[in-house]
Amino acid sequence: MTATTTLAPVKWEEDRLLLLDQTLLPTQTLYLDLTKIEEVWAAIRHLQVRGAPAIGMAAAYGLYLGIREIEATDFDAFWAQVEEKASYLATSRPTAVNLFWAIDRIKGRVQLEAAKPISEIKQAVLDEAIEIQAEDERVCRTIGEYALTLLQDGMGVLTHCNPGALATAAYGTATAPFYLAKERGWDLKVFADETRPVLQGARLTAYELQQAGIDVTLICDNMAAVVMAQKKVQAVIVGTDRVAANGDVANKIGTYGVAVLAQAHGIPFYVAAPLSSIDLETPTGADIPIEERPAEEITHGLGKQVAPDNIQVYNPAFDVTPAKYITAIVTEKGIFKPEEIKDIQK
Ligand code: MRU
Repeated sequence: MTATTTLAPVKWEEDRLLLLDQTLLPTQTLYLDLTKIEEVWAAIRHLQVRGAPAIGMAAAYGLYLGIREIEATDFDAFWAQVEEKASYLATSRPTAVNLFWAIDRIKGRVQLEAAKPISEIKQAVLDEAIEIQAEDERVCRTIGEYALTLLQDGMGVLTHCNPGALATAAYGTATAPFYLAKERGWDLKVFADETRPVLQGARLTAYELQQAGIDVTLICDNMAAVVMAQKKVQAVIVGTDRVAANGDVANKIGTYGVAVLAQAHGIPFYVAAPLSSIDLETPTGADIPIEERPAEEITHGLGKQVAPDNIQVYNPAFDVTPAKYITAIVTEKGIFKPEEIKDIQK
């Protein structure tokens, strides 16, 4: 199929979950072979699987791995354990709402099948996880189709972090138009921010786009302003971990700065967001829980000490871009202004 297939971050194989260990990319391609919910929790926490939709997919399979071990034979006892395992998995990372969305969806399926024998409920849970993954591929392709209507052949487009095939079932969200443009013979010039401190842009986006034969240029985060001033990019498109009801968007740290720069240079700033990343229960960006990660990601980037011993560090993994900087949010249901997001269910 597409070049994205070989980089599938999440694979279900018979009775086990295979996760591409993204901490080793781009130099090693190694799949973790997981059979326990605890292993999936750790893979999410340690960024071996990352990116909001991929976290959701991994969580769905991870919850199945936990559920299949439940020995209870009556539904009430079974449900109590499902809730326990779901709550546990929900502690793996706080910001990407897809994690909670996927867990809720699996719980909903369990409730729907409540009248059936436990063995059949367990099978239904696995079916649901497989469907979440299949659906994500369709969703990403549709987002790509819509996003492509905002771009033109020959354009330069900047992206931040990895909203790519490695973060989804295929295509990515914000990278989907790049893959579709390639299929159509367009010549987009993609600029990928390296994305300090964990370098998802350098290690993952630059890698997967290069593998797919897409014209991609890697820049350090602090070069985005110059690239815009030099008119090398005519649009910015990023992914998201959670869109609040007022259209504020949480995404990888550094996104907010890119949005401000884009506005200063008169460049449209688009967010690609599957409905699974839209959280109408969270009123504004200020209500989105922002993960703080270990100091070592900054003091020991890629394992080498680059800061003094015992230095104080602040390491928020995400920031919130206020709705006023966002030109449009591209979903699988169409393209919306940030202020229209609250009505999206209509
Ligand atoms: O910490 P990460 O690598 O999970 O952060 C990922 C991002 O911020 C992505 O941009 C976001 O999840 C969108 S993925 C389609």
